[in-house]
Amino acid sequence: MDDKAFSYTTISKSLDTTEFGHPLYYYNSTSSTNNKAKDLALNGEPEGTLVVANEQTAGRGRFDRRWFTPKGSGLAVSFILRSKLSNPEISQMPLLGGLATAYAIEQLYNISPKLKWPNDIWVEQKKIAGILVETSYTENLPEWQILGIGVNVNSAPLEVTNPSYDASCLADIIGHKVDRVNLLQQLVRNVGLLYNQLEQNSIREEWQKRMLWKNQYIEVIDSGHNPIEGIVLGVETNGALIIQLSNGDQLKIYSGEIRLKAR
Ligand code: BTN
Repeated sequence: MDDKAFSYTTISKSLDTTEFGHPLYYYNSTSSTNNKAKDLALNGEPEGTLVVANEQTAGRGRFDRRWFTPKGSGLAVSFILRSKLSNPEISQMPLLGGLATAYAIEQLYNISPKLKWPNDIWVEQKKIAGILVETSYTENLPEWQILGIGVNVNSAPLEVTNPSYDASCLADIIGHKVDRVNLLQQLVRNVGLLYNQLEQNSIREEWQKRMLWKNQYIEVIDSGHNPIEGIVLGVETNGALIIQLSNGDQLKIYSGEIRLKAR
């Protein structure tokens, strides 16, 4: 399947939700859809605004890592959200993004991605997508959130930005090229549906069902700190990782990177 027709017209025609994907901003090439979405949010663009790029020249990941979206190869999208919810509900955005992406892949290609804390999507022990949420607060209240989603669709990144795992792309896993317009259509539907569930406990529960390394022994690397080891129990509604230490205590971790650890 080819998807040469990845354009403003094909994408806007495919979008069938009323709240999300409007207005639509499409760039054949841009620095980063999160950067564009931030500028648009500052200019007052509404909730549901969707920014899509065919190529990112300075795509960003967590910890300021680079995220590669060469022309024609992937999905790089950012949504403007203006949720008035506060913690812990508002902190579920990365879980929402991961779940929406995993659902879309499952619904279209019959494979079941795993979700790696805090915001990676893995298939067959390799990363294929990532989420980057950026939030602006005014007087301690959330003003807007940018939900950025990057999926390696038809090519895997050539450069390694994180040497602790392998990356892949959907086409290599499925065995044929993937239509990015279809994938985006499904992703936008899922983001809209899950967004309306932020006040229930369902996002956390569904996320945990797909959690990579649940009940396994891992280490958490947090920049500047010694690794912490423990068994993965799950996530809190606010997105924190819950692990059980060897003395039986439970610990909540708010930031860092996890790795499977031999005992
Ligand atoms: C990560 O895995 O560290 C997160 C990667 C997030 C990448 C997406 S692509 C669309 C949006 N624009 C960006 O610059 N980053 C996010």
